Amino acid sequence: MAIAPKPDMRPGNPNFSSGPCAKRPGFALDALSGAMLGRSHRAGAPKARLAEVIERSRAILEMPADWRLGIVPASDTGAMEMVLWSLLGARGVDVLAFESFGEGWANDVLKQLRLPDARVLAAPYGRLPDLGAADFSRDVVFPWNGTTSGVRVPDGDWIASDRRGLTICDATSAAFAMRLAWDRLDVVTWSWQKVLGGEAAHGMLALSPRAVERLLNHQPAWPLPKIFRLTSGGKLIEGIFKGETINTPSMLCVEDALDGLRWAESAGGLDRLIARCEANLSAIARWVERTAWVDFLAEDAATRSCTSICLKLAVPALAKPMAALLEREGAAYDIAAYRDAPPGLRIWGGATVESADIEALLPWLDWAHGEVTEQ
Ligand SMILES: Cc1ncc(COP(=O)(O)O)c(C=O)c1O
Repeated sequence: MAIAPKPDMRPGNPNFSSGPCAKRPGFALDALSGAMLGRSHRAGAPKARLAEVIERSRAILEMPADWRLGIVPASDTGAMEMVLWSLLGARGVDVLAFESFGEGWANDVLKQLRLPDARVLAAPYGRLPDLGAADFSRDVVFPWNGTTSGVRVPDGDWIASDRRGLTICDATSAAFAMRLAWDRLDVVTWSWQKVLGGEAAHGMLALSPRAVERLLNHQPAWPLPKIFRLTSGGKLIEGIFKGETINTPSMLCVEDALDGLRWAESAGGLDRLIARCEANLSAIARWVERTAWVDFLAEDAATRSCTSICLKLAVPALAKPMAALLEREGAAYDIAAYRDAPPGLRIWGGATVESADIEALLPWLDWAHGEVTEQ
């Protein structure tokens, strides 16, 4: 095998982390100069900024008008924990676990909530569980995109449209990058620091009318801490869905989230965001095709993520030294696989990543592979 030469050009932006993710193209701190620092988020103008995050997010994501969208504490984990604790227990539950985050939700359901009627539909890294085995007379919890395996559900067609249970979807590495089947979903969560490159802070929680109905009619058998509570006196806490956050948000992060959303609009909206991610996946797929020592971790091409692009190596032990070398060279940061995943590389291809930067990274991967093989 010919040794790949050291490339002359580094990617313009070497940030390929899977959260926090690259800032949007052209970002500079000046973009946050209008942040309402030192102001109370309960005052009119700052509250309007929070509401603006909600309204712009809804519009870009083409969320149905009858859904509620709120800003909640503790990022995506906060949003997911809130709904697991608030909604589950009314029916049996199926949890799809095909990488570490789904495994985490399964763990919560089994070991923390200790729901007696819970099933885990599990699959090893690289595969999806049998989607046909999910029972929609029960509640079904799943990640749309498994960030640590690079495996995504292909669409929402496997979800019953006449379901009686609720579907609870962790979409943190899918929202703004993949078409979410709103008519098949009841709860959708995400964070700011993924596809639009925002700063980590509060999470986003979207609820269908059926999810709201469950909230109003179901009393969990366990106590709920204040930051998990979505209802009060049998009514929805409406303020959460207008920007009146349960606890204090960072107005700097709010400003940054707005900057990302405005960029998303100027980039052309959801279709263009998806196209940018798919172009990144395609660039890597073309390279994988011609490169003998690498393959996708996701076995089925229809399930390959266009955001968290996970690769396995013929010699897995080379992945960590490759990632370390590329980091020292300033060519790519944080591209080793997630700690719980099989050894490999993970390259973020979300909407803020330029395809030109992915293209510029590929010869560096060839070079680094040659270097660590020689050692
Ligand atoms: C699928 C998935 N769920 C949950 C999380 C946790 O998100 P956060 O750190 O925003 O709480 C992540 C983070 O990468 C994720 O990828």
